[in-house]
Amino acid sequence: MVVIRGATTIPCDTKEEIRKAVSELLEQIESRNSLKRDEVVSLVFSSTSDIHSFYPAKAAREAGFVSCSLFSAQEPDIEGGLPLCIRCMLFVEKNLSPSHVYLRGAKILRKDLSGKFNIAIDGPAGSGKSTVAKALAKDYHILYLDTGAMYRACALKALEEGIDPGDEVAVLALMRDVKLDVVYENGVQKTLLDGRDVSEEIRKNEVSMASSTVSKHASVRMHLVEKQREIAGRMSCVLDGRDIGTFVLPDADFKFYLTASPDVRAKRRYDELKARGAEVDFEKLKEEIVRRDEQDMNREFAPLKRAEDAVLIDTSDMTADEVVAAIKRSMQEKI
Ligand code: DC
Repeated sequence: MVVIRGATTIPCDTKEEIRKAVSELLEQIESRNSLKRDEVVSLVFSSTSDIHSFYPAKAAREAGFVSCSLFSAQEPDIEGGLPLCIRCMLFVEKNLSPSHVYLRGAKILRKDLSGKFNIAIDGPAGSGKSTVAKALAKDYHILYLDTGAMYRACALKALEEGIDPGDEVAVLALMRDVKLDVVYENGVQKTLLDGRDVSEEIRKNEVSMASSTVSKHASVRMHLVEKQREIAGRMSCVLDGRDIGTFVLPDADFKFYLTASPDVRAKRRYDELKARGAEVDFEKLKEEIVRRDEQDMNREFAPLKRAEDAVLIDTSDMTADEVVAAIKRSMQEKI
């Protein structure tokens, strides 16, 4: 007896999607293992607790698995687990070396079978990149690299040292002197300057415009881009920034460009700063965001722009959950 494993995901919890995903998974398992239906003795499914619409075992029966025994169970709700996921185990009466099959979003569960992957998310300030990137990293169990934090740390250091963020030579010299590290604690990114945790300080509003200004300098960018490429080259991660899909990782497996109206983006930043206890003027903040976008989009080297192959999502009227779902759907279609 041989056991073959398989898993897949569905974009939403409907009977039709479950039927489609189960029959696609079983077809792939059969064809990759050159199986005949009567060689399958037993078929066991489990599905995550967010699936309620249909039994995967029933979908298998409908897909033609009529003579084997079938069973479906529900998995416990594990924090950070891959959502909307169906797993199966086929007990087969045949002597073979099994090819396990992971499809759609479940490819991520077996990186040994499906390889390392990177997700690039670009877009202007307040378009929702970081919220969405964090959620994707959590669901897929991969790293989230916030590249903006690196430019912010660089700007903070310049401000602290009384250096003009517009002075390329001085800023680069400073960056060569200081040790900028990105480390992870319980999956959360911390940005360190010479070992000092500056993760909170870099979020201050006065650092935002300065970070855009330091990011104009090609030499400063290359200094940081090298670190970003090194991290992304080592492991699967989701990166957000301005030039990830166009310059840092032009070969990223998945690329997205998020945008939203200036009003919505300013409101998101306003709420964020207020929640941190900062005093902010909405109109002034909006004006700054628009000015920062203009600077980021019009700089000469690696400006903010949508990569031709990036999926465009206008998040103005979407919740963060809806954006995450749209990205996952798009990734599943591509896989
Ligand atoms: O995403 P953020 O607001 O933390 O980014 C701060 C600034 O850093 C942004 O205005 C432009 C710059 N930046 C960049 O040029 N390239 C990146 N990949 C990320 C950020």
